[in-house]
Amino acid sequence: MTLDLSPGFGVYVHWPFCAAKCPYCDFNSHVRHQPVDQERFAAAFATELATMRRRTGAHEVTSIFLGGGTPSLMRPETVGAVLDAIAQNWTIAADAEITLEANPTSVEAERFRGYRAAGVNRVSLGVQALNDKDLRFLGRMHSVSEALHAIGLAREIFPRLSFDLIYARPGQTPEAWTAELEQAIGYAVDHLSLYQLTIEEGTRFHALYHAGKFQIPDGDHAADLYAATQEITAARGLPAYEISNHARPGAESRHNLTYWRYGEYVGVGPGAHGRFLEDGTRIVTIAEKHPETWAGLVEAQGHGIVDGEVLSRSEEADEFLLMGLRLAEGIDLARYEMLSGKTLSGRYLSRLQQDGLVAPIGNSRLRATPQGMIVLDAVVADLAR
Ligand SMILES: C[S@@+](CC[C@H](N)C(=O)[O-])C[C@H]1O[C@@H](n2cnc3c(N)ncnc32)[C@H](O)[C@@H]1O
Ligand code: SF4
Repeated sequence: MTLDLSPGFGVYVHWPFCAAKCPYCDFNSHVRHQPVDQERFAAAFATELATMRRRTGAHEVTSIFLGGGTPSLMRPETVGAVLDAIAQNWTIAADAEITLEANPTSVEAERFRGYRAAGVNRVSLGVQALNDKDLRFLGRMHSVSEALHAIGLAREIFPRLSFDLIYARPGQTPEAWTAELEQAIGYAVDHLSLYQLTIEEGTRFHALYHAGKFQIPDGDHAADLYAATQEITAARGLPAYEISNHARPGAESRHNLTYWRYGEYVGVGPGAHGRFLEDGTRIVTIAEKHPETWAGLVEAQGHGIVDGEVLSRSEEADEFLLMGLRLAEGIDLARYEMLSGKTLSGRYLSRLQQDGLVAPIGNSRLRATPQGMIVLDAVVADLAR
């Protein structure tokens, strides 16, 4: 079997609302105490998609990702309207992956059948922990039993399912995490995202952490948890294909692979980013973050883009390295040479190889080793010299 390494063309749609703000989260998410005007947002998505279509030209869409925020707060009709708008602008591939991020409260699980009928064929559930004490610590609105119910329902309704867990929580021992991970693998279908808890600036956890209210595993302890994660998932047939993402071979997220393989994607919605070729040049788009301000901009001018840039050849090559080396499959050296117009620095390459941070795959590819992944920014800085 040959490996399909084509980067694809994706569409990302950002739904920026959440029922409550989790204390660790710095994503573009907003809580509204009045009902959100979903028709207004669906119309604004359709307008911005049409503007993007004029910029990207015709393409076959290989994946769509409704992310957030909490897209499972969207009514199924809103999801249907967004998917229809995408189909009006580009061809959607017959086997396109269409993912919706869902929070596993019982209210949201009730909408699963509607999402499936609208065309969603994969859900990514934010389970985060499999014990109620840690779910409360993480400020989550669901219990373990609700999460398990949502997993069961999603397995019945959707052809594909992934769920997220956050580990390296305060006081979490390798034994406790190992047991929880084994349990999670038992519920998993073919994909898991496993993130180490990070303390992000501007979040409630940032203030609490810096006030000494809790500690998280760091240094050797965090590295042990990461190593245990890699070992257990590999042994159970869900090896890491990216730093935090694990799948049975063939069940990787097509949409995320498009980012990491440096494909093209359009981003619509508040705060969304896009990267695509316009007149042969890779450009970056960045939308206004505040939801209602974004909608107002779209209504006035057809899009909510407030920032962006045209990437130079060397910036493109650096991004390609940074994204591609996150993947177990590594990067295609010929594509690097084509993007950058040069070969990788031989001197630095052999030193990184000697240090065990990168390794060749045959003659044509290069990957970061597990040790290299931990210090990826520094590895890329050396390689790009
Ligand atoms: C932005 S959320 C969106 C999904 C959905 N709203 C939810 O909460 O499940 C995407 C994922 O990022 C992860 N995440 C967000 N902030 C994080 C942090 N500070 N540390 C580790 N993981 C984090 C969580 O696992 C979460 O499921
Ligand atoms: S983690 Fe998810 S639910 Fe919580 S605030 Fe962030 S986007 Fe919203």
